[in-house]
Amino acid sequence: MSNRTFTMIKPDAMKSGHAGAILDRIIKEGYKVVSLKLTKLSAEKAGEFYAVHKARPFYGELVEFMSSGPIIAAILEKENAVTSFRQLIGATNPAQAEEGTIRKLYAASLGENAIHGSDSDENAEIEGNFFFSGLERV
Ligand code: RTP
Ligand code: MG
Repeated sequence: MSNRTFTMIKPDAMKSGHAGAILDRIIKEGYKVVSLKLTKLSAEKAGEFYAVHKARPFYGELVEFMSSGPIIAAILEKENAVTSFRQLIGATNPAQAEEGTIRKLYAASLGENAIHGSDSDENAEIEGNFFFSGLERV
């Protein structure tokens, strides 16, 4: 089992001013920040990142949303990082997310749900490599 995951604070949470609180929560939950950057995805890059959802009806909306403003990307380290981080962010739809999870606290809708978390060790590796070079990791 790998101890790393990848996350993005999505454009809605950036816009609503919750990025600081979200990063603070992540650090207080014991995740070590291995890499961190503020950036903005082009529609092309957002489409590439979420290519697994290409055939889904929400793909166009998802790409438009994810390229609509700045995001913060990070690689995080903690024991059992992928699974524990998915618990910390909560269900994809904030209406179904548990109390106290990041999506319950800060997400407004299924489409605009504040934060991304990798769903497997393999994808955590791929997604981290999508954003960060070896020099950008501590
Ligand atoms: P993420 O990849 O962003 O961490 O989210 P997730 O694993 O919880 O959910 P996933 O199934 O991978 O979906 C990716 C993102 O697509 C948007 N979505 N919209 N309108 C819809 O029906 C719908 N379904 C999913 C969400 O922003 C979701 O996080
Ligand atoms: Mg996903």
